[in-house]
Amino acid sequence: METKLLTSEQYKEAGAILKKGGLVGIPTETVYGLAANALDGAAVAKIFEAKGRPQDNPLIVHIADLSEIDDLVAYVPPVVYDLADAFWPGPLTIILEKSGIIPDEVTTGLNTVAIRMPSHPVARQIIKAAGVPLAAPSANTSGKPSPTTAAHVMHDMNGKIDAVVDGGPCEVGVESTVITLATRKPRLLRPGRITPDELEEVLGDELIIDDAVLGKLKEGERAASPGMKYKHYSPSSDVFVVKGPLDKFKALVEKEANDKTAVLVFDGEEKEFDIMTLNFGAEDDDLAHAAKLFDALRTCDDEGIEKLFVRCPSDEGVGLAVMNRLLRAAEYKVLEV
Ligand code: TXA
Ligand code: MG
Repeated sequence: METKLLTSEQYKEAGAILKKGGLVGIPTETVYGLAANALDGAAVAKIFEAKGRPQDNPLIVHIADLSEIDDLVAYVPPVVYDLADAFWPGPLTIILEKSGIIPDEVTTGLNTVAIRMPSHPVARQIIKAAGVPLAAPSANTSGKPSPTTAAHVMHDMNGKIDAVVDGGPCEVGVESTVITLATRKPRLLRPGRITPDELEEVLGDELIIDDAVLGKLKEGERAASPGMKYKHYSPSSDVFVVKGPLDKFKALVEKEANDKTAVLVFDGEEKEFDIMTLNFGAEDDDLAHAAKLFDALRTCDDEGIEKLFVRCPSDEGVGLAVMNRLLRAAEYKVLEV
């Protein structure tokens, strides 16, 4: 199949492809999504095939207007309206008990469904043009870092999907915050741009942080969010997170480096290294770390890098999301120097 590269002005064409049961890579403010009509089980099934996604990892349903939620879920707890007021449209996904119109392909048989209203203007235009809610996981091949540009999507999906809409680089760079309200207490399943503190302010209640958010699941432990149990965000390069001051980081890298080694370092530190350097933004800029991480991991793969040493970022604020993705990419290899 030929994969068309569409401009953001061609959102109507993207909508028409989706309406007919096709697959389209779409920009969102977090990462690019691989969209299909969420109400068409056969279309949704093709997403799993294109990504090589495990059959038990459910998808997020994207809406453009709050009123669309009524048909998709069994009932809407009042706090959803408070969360929507504060964070929608935006990078928050809310899991609720599903209604009967959601095909099993979307939820992989669970009785809950994940809903998100993205803020990216092109994503919103595409959803409206399609006239249906869109099921969309991140548009990467399963296990690879999520795509933050249309070129990343083309790299993974060219020939496998109908089209990709180029909406420029994603602003946030890590996937949405996922919380479930289908449990007795609200629970954070995946950290993102909306932080636990911001959520608690609206919930007026304690937000339970799922063990899988920073810790590694123990053997046999059940993942509340199936996506948390898979090896994720992993480039082919071996990634090491290095905790400690720059001089010790530098000493470690000098000892270990060969011509297939790279470093991911903060602003101003590049000049310390004579191997390939990737920029992580300013040391205290968690938003920059989020925006740059996946592109850096993908660049390593493209350049045939075998070992990547990463300056350990803060895990405060949006840093919680950055560390969550980085630790998975590194398969939890953290070196203290
Ligand atoms: O920012 C994002 O959320 C992006 C853009 C495209 O919207 N999408 C995204 O989708 O990251 P995906 O499929 O890569 O991640 C969805 C996560 C997975 O970890 C999945 O297991 C979880 O949400 N999830 C979806 N439905 C669920 C449900 N009913 N119960 C528990 N977890 C669910
Ligand atoms: Mg994903």
